[in-house]
Amino acid sequence: MIKAGVIGATGYAGAELVRLLSGHPEVELSGLTSRNYAGRPFWEVYPHLYKYVDPVCAEQDVPALVAQSDVVFTALPHGHAMAVAKETLAQGKALIDLGADFRFRDAATYESWYKVEHTARELIARAVYGLPEIHREEIKVARLVGNPGCYPTSAILGLAPLLKEGWLEPDSIIIDSKSGVSGAGRGLSLNTHYCEVNESIKAYGVAGHRHTPEIEQELSALAGRQLTVSFTPHLTPMLRGILSTIYGRLTRPLSGGQAHALYRDFYAGERFVRVLPPGMLPATKAVAGSNHCDLGVVVDGRTGRVVVVSAIDNLIKGAAGQAVQNMNIMSGLPEDTGLCGPGVYP
Ligand SMILES: NC(=O)c1ccc[n+]([C@@H]2O[C@H](COP(=O)([O-])OP(=O)(O)OC[C@H]3O[C@@H](n4cnc5c(N)ncnc54)[C@H](OP(=O)(O)O)[C@@H]3O)[C@@H](O)[C@H]2O)c1
Repeated sequence: MIKAGVIGATGYAGAELVRLLSGHPEVELSGLTSRNYAGRPFWEVYPHLYKYVDPVCAEQDVPALVAQSDVVFTALPHGHAMAVAKETLAQGKALIDLGADFRFRDAATYESWYKVEHTARELIARAVYGLPEIHREEIKVARLVGNPGCYPTSAILGLAPLLKEGWLEPDSIIIDSKSGVSGAGRGLSLNTHYCEVNESIKAYGVAGHRHTPEIEQELSALAGRQLTVSFTPHLTPMLRGILSTIYGRLTRPLSGGQAHALYRDFYAGERFVRVLPPGMLPATKAVAGSNHCDLGVVVDGRTGRVVVVSAIDNLIKGAAGQAVQNMNIMSGLPEDTGLCGPGVYP
């Protein structure tokens, strides 16, 4: 059995991780930490896990948790995983960070967008960007994984086939994304207050959202040249889910059938990416509660653009499910262990 510890277990991403790990046949929970709920049973904080998750939330004692774990997950705000990574690797264990601290190849990019100093620069070269469909071979041998952000997961999977094959003018890409409110975490804030978000939709982080450089880093690597994107996220009155509608100008004529075949072939054999049949488009409801990324691709011959629609559950493929997928790959387990089920509907 893999002994797995979760630091920041009581946030939304951490709680989904605990739910998935508690049902994983090869995992034993070695410890769950929380700042505000230390000393309380986990199920008291998340009653849906009553009779499923027994551990009591512990104070954050990183060396002790690492010592009793094979793999540690951090589901903390950015800036808090660097010290944990040092301790985890020093003890010869593996770390999967759900935050942004180890997603960037370049510390300066991280520091300029996140406004904190990177205090574990020496570990950046050892960190792998944990998007299995793109970096599977590196993840297999990694001990430190920067689990991707939710918006980047939807955008990168949506664009990879076209960019890799040179079908898009690299600087023509526009990513228009909508997210459910759980994307902002469980902490209270006016912006996520019921009366502020219900029956409303609004753009935020326009021309400056922190997921932009992460998307650009990975898309540039796929395209084989540095590119920029226009990325606009929106907050929508859903609990969970991300829908990204992505536009790009084609470099040469491509038919709808060819575009579909390109995606179908690129993701052939991928357990969690579902390229929908022509005429069918992704919806957040169809991926809620599952580790799937659903993709639909349409060529707009009139404008010479391609439109890709990508849907994920921000807490599963966008966070906890992807983290478990990474743990499975790092542990040599079948990639879908503990992640087999479809989502819930409606
Ligand atoms: N929500 C998503 O859809 C999503 C998707 C992908 C990635 N992520 C990333 O996952 C991480 C967690 O996000 P979340 O949405 O789960 O946030 P959240 O609901 O606000 O939970 C944050 C967790 O971190 C703990 N925490 C907060 N500040 C801390 C501090 N200063 N020291 C120690 N622990 C602290 C909290 O403890 P208490 O419970 O005791 O307050 C809680 O367990 C973030 O880096 C986020 O960017 C989130």
